[in-house]
Amino acid sequence: MLIQRWQKNRIKESEVTDEAVYRDRRRILKQLGFLGAMSALSQSAQAGPFDLFKSEEKPEFERRPLNFKKADSNVASLTEESTATSYNNFYEFGTSKSDPKDEAQDFKVDPWTLQVDGMVETPITLNYDDIYKRFTLEERIYRLRCVEAWSMVIPWIGFSLADLLKAAKPLSSAKYVAFQTLYDPKQMPGQRSRFVGGGIDYPYVEGLRIDEAMHPLTLMSVGMYGQTLPPQNGAPIRLVVPWKYGFKSIKSVVKISLVDNEPPTTWNILAPDEYGFYANVNPNVDHPRWSQARERRIMGSGLNAMQRIDTQMFNGYDEVASLYSGMDLRKLY
Ligand code: MTE
Repeated sequence: MLIQRWQKNRIKESEVTDEAVYRDRRRILKQLGFLGAMSALSQSAQAGPFDLFKSEEKPEFERRPLNFKKADSNVASLTEESTATSYNNFYEFGTSKSDPKDEAQDFKVDPWTLQVDGMVETPITLNYDDIYKRFTLEERIYRLRCVEAWSMVIPWIGFSLADLLKAAKPLSSAKYVAFQTLYDPKQMPGQRSRFVGGGIDYPYVEGLRIDEAMHPLTLMSVGMYGQTLPPQNGAPIRLVVPWKYGFKSIKSVVKISLVDNEPPTTWNILAPDEYGFYANVNPNVDHPRWSQARERRIMGSGLNAMQRIDTQMFNGYDEVASLYSGMDLRKLY
């Protein structure tokens, strides 16, 4: 995700997997004070004797089991939960894949306020309890394809964004939906320092066209693997848009506004030549610095931890193709 201008932190396609291997050791070294927030660890590092220090980990954020309608179980195997919750992008907590889990365990999610406002008849405010109770929760097993060319298969729990938007009654003049992550530099070290937070101007913002937002696949997720979300995955509530690159799936959302113009989006502001507003998964349009034709499907940490597979148009969710008929997806990437 890091941008070309910032040479020091450029991510090459080949680096992503190596990081998965050494992330545990990096966390432990950091706890022992051997690494600064952004110092790079040599790629040759391997988990080793430092594993002894694992017992010094901070207590983990407490998750709760949720009541939800289970997904059909005849689906492809899932990414291991421990991998999906420890290999994350959440720059508010740092730019390394292990930073969100390491830095976010004290994150406070209750009280929480999610506002739906802008061009609506009935603005809505959801508090922490409403997030879990106002809408019927269901499980959705989705592929998550990051623009960095890795992917996972994750059992999310949540409700359709359309249900929430309909409750607010959008005006016919509303054409787009803008999303915003919590801004709380006291809790989020990446928001306190441009160095730790990857040079992003926070709060992190995202957007969808209204027909994309209303599509039944578009999910507001409040949980994963049967429980509430951990902070590193966007607790207490995040967006999941499975046919778009992962950066559209904004975490820890506090505001959803209906607007009439295309809203600014964080990665597009930072590097418009690399990250577009639409960001539909597309194997035929390469990122300027790497191919998008294939991906590394990350399943876990065991022997079959990772498979290289072809990337599918719209991440395999063909039912959304009609949203883009007549559009040049090379230009509107
Ligand atoms: N949301 C916020 N607020 N900040 C972020 O840095 N990273 C995005 C997205 N949502 C990000 C975010 C990116 S690049 C990806 S790939 C996904 O979150 C990763 O979600 P996961 O960590 O749950 O797999």
